[in-house]
Amino acid sequence: MTAQIIDGKAIAKSVRDQVAAEVARRTAAGKPQPTLATVLVGDRPDSAAYVTSKQKACAELGMGSVSHHLPGDASQQQVEALVKSLNDDPKINGILVQLPMPGHIDEERVLQLINIEKDVDGFSPLNIGRLAQKGREPLFVPCTPYGCIYLLEQSGVKIEGANAVVLGRSNIVGMPAALLLIGRNATVTVCHSRTRDLPDVVRQADILIAAIGRTEMVRGDWIKPGAAVIDVGINEIADPTKKSGRRLVGDVNFAEAVEVAGHITPVPGGVGPMTIAMLMKNTLHAAEIQNP
Ligand code: GUN
Repeated sequence: MTAQIIDGKAIAKSVRDQVAAEVARRTAAGKPQPTLATVLVGDRPDSAAYVTSKQKACAELGMGSVSHHLPGDASQQQVEALVKSLNDDPKINGILVQLPMPGHIDEERVLQLINIEKDVDGFSPLNIGRLAQKGREPLFVPCTPYGCIYLLEQSGVKIEGANAVVLGRSNIVGMPAALLLIGRNATVTVCHSRTRDLPDVVRQADILIAAIGRTEMVRGDWIKPGAAVIDVGINEIADPTKKSGRRLVGDVNFAEAVEVAGHITPVPGGVGPMTIAMLMKNTLHAAEIQNP
């Protein structure tokens, strides 16, 4: 069997097209332009590149963006003062604080300051707390896990009643992905570096979300035949056949897994494009809450 490849690029494009159409409709009706503020502290090149892509997406979808870049030695007080001023600015609908921040910054204190109605990343303790509780709804769902669930739903994968295994328990992906799956009535196992008999646990999965950051760790014989495999990993490996000398691979050995799975996301072109698409959807949602 060869798996159906889940086309994250096409699904992300359809989300972006829907958001752009709604933004155009709202602005034509005289409503303020949905606007995202990004906060970058320090000079990590990967974080700077992510923030630039987020601003570019805003422009492409007709949304506004305001970028704030603080030096790597900015104080806790400076970062907090910036977040507070963005909370108070009625032109700003969403606030995205790029993570990780430099080690001397208390990330939790910064995230909990973000007004819950502007928390488009869904990382404030209030939004995560609501995600973790039965019968409560967060205002925003973290973008990458939201993208993973969206890909499953768009591909017709049944989540209710499925055995789902989440590989990795990070605050940004693994843990919120597990909470989202529980909320959709999957039976969820969260695995991590100290899980025993990992291949056997993964073999039980009807749905596998791999977000552990280990190059091609999941082998084809770990996959249950017909399973849906969502690969969140973005790992760079050497490839002398490429002009750059490198290429990206996931946490799953794609060539092996594609022969066994029912559905699978490629890397690149699977989960990657979904994160920004869902951030744009969340930013529009923030504008809808603030300017109904
Ligand atoms: N760093 C890695 N992923 C993310 C994300 O989705 N949002 C933010 N703010 N920082 C990140």
